[in-house]
Amino acid sequence: PSAESLARAESLIRTIPDYPEPGVLFRDITPLLADRDALRATIDAMIEPFEGRFDVVAGVEARGFILAGAAAIAAGVGLVPIRKAGKLPRPAASVSYELEYGTATIECHDDIAPGTRVLLIDDVLATGGTLVAAHELVARLGAEVVGTTVLMELEALGGRALVGDVHAVFTA
Ligand code: PRP
Repeated sequence: PSAESLARAESLIRTIPDYPEPGVLFRDITPLLADRDALRATIDAMIEPFEGRFDVVAGVEARGFILAGAAAIAAGVGLVPIRKAGKLPRPAASVSYELEYGTATIECHDDIAPGTRVLLIDDVLATGGTLVAAHELVARLGAEVVGTTVLMELEALGGRALVGDVHAVFTA
């Protein structure tokens, strides 16, 4: 995608102060998603560095699903959902991680064979806890994470230090 089309897409990310709580600047990607050209440019930019190197995308619930579905069709591959605990009937692997308050668990079915090359997709990289857990989940299935891509990285939260190599289309 051109620099102009990505700049236009970025301009459609809406910043909402004090949501979901006072002091938090929420990045709302729904105006970008609603725009045909911005959605296309963003999805293409998310997958471009990994083109031809992955067999399946794995998207993290819930906003990651939206992007992963679009990316799967654009790249011509299948999609494996990484879900929050209790949503899948036959979870084959489960990983818990720390949140600011408490813990969260994500789960996955074993619909990817060992050795499958997986592109991990989420909307936002914040502290990195979610994507580190997603890496571990894919590893437990014997599959290989060949890349991690997000629409937006929130640099101040330092997630990159935990997750390692992440491709972020936009940064804030
Ligand atoms: C948000 C976001 C990422 C995660 C990033 O998900 O969609 O998955 O947090 O944060 P981290 O880097 O600090 O782990 P959330 O749990 O709010 O779920 P949602 O997509 O269902 O809204």
